[in-house]
Amino acid sequence: MGQQHSKRIFRRRKNLDTTSLPSPVATSSSFTKASMFRYKEGRRYHEDESIPYVLPNDDEGSNFEVPLREDLEKGHLKVLDAGCGPGTWLFDMAEDFPHCHFYGIDVAPVFPQGIKPSNVTFALANLTEPLPYPDHHFDYIHQRLLLFGLTLPQWDVAMQELLRVLKPGGWIEFVEIDQEAHNRGPLLKIITDAMTQMLVSRNMVPDISERLVNYMEKYQLDHIHTTIKDFPMRHSGKVGDLFWDDFQRVAHAVQPIVSQTHSEWSSSQGYKDYLLSCADECTANQTTLSARSVWAQKPCVPVH
Ligand SMILES: C[S@@+](CC[C@H](N)C(=O)[O-])C[C@H]1O[C@@H](n2cnc3c(N)ncnc32)[C@H](O)[C@@H]1O
Repeated sequence: MGQQHSKRIFRRRKNLDTTSLPSPVATSSSFTKASMFRYKEGRRYHEDESIPYVLPNDDEGSNFEVPLREDLEKGHLKVLDAGCGPGTWLFDMAEDFPHCHFYGIDVAPVFPQGIKPSNVTFALANLTEPLPYPDHHFDYIHQRLLLFGLTLPQWDVAMQELLRVLKPGGWIEFVEIDQEAHNRGPLLKIITDAMTQMLVSRNMVPDISERLVNYMEKYQLDHIHTTIKDFPMRHSGKVGDLFWDDFQRVAHAVQPIVSQTHSEWSSSQGYKDYLLSCADECTANQTTLSARSVWAQKPCVPVH
């Protein structure tokens, strides 16, 4: 399972050509110093200012946006991945920051039960119920791709619970994909609209990526930022192929539901053929889908 998921796009893209991907939206903050590097906006740069390379050197496929790289490298942070699935994000982070401890929770036992790094702990927990941690426990909370997991009221419950277990001054980051792809052709439109209808009919939130900032404001978090990355769907090399694989996996998972309203998708072969045509259409149209990271800091002192 771990190997299968290591091929997904939402992990550090160590060996991929990502030159075609646009840079994240810029944010602002101040410089702090560490031994070999300078840090700005949570990104790492050469300490030697005479080096003319102006881009961050911490890998364009960074697993997080919050400005915690320096603290993560020092160690001793407690990090929670909410709805961690098979633990893909946690394993990358645990390897990169061996002196921090990483906790993964999921409502289903989809995470590895046996061999895992010593700085990773998994637990079964439901985000819509009280979490098995005390108040103010984590320095950083990450949550990715719960679009298909939470209803509208459950987003509020989960947010409150995550903020309870986050330390004052701690950081929280959500990553969700946008509802509509750019340069979407008619075939992709039909299937993504069907997914949207399915979510709406279950009181889920297809445009959650665009609402996250409102949640952060509602809970009076500080330093709210958004980073948007556009992912190619089945074009521009390996990144596009991997992203398409991820999309297809989701599409197959929802087949039993979306085929209720589209009978032509009820046979596996019919559905596979449809997805194949969608893939060709995305390649021809150079379709992209945005993933949005929205991140903010819990106030150091209570707001009330
Ligand atoms: C699409 S997967 C994303 C997994 C992981 N975050 C990633 O990016 O690879 C969504 C995960 O959220 C979990 N999930 C859904 N509802 C949940 C809930 N109420 N509490 C905890 N986990 C939940 C699912 O079991 C699933 O593993």
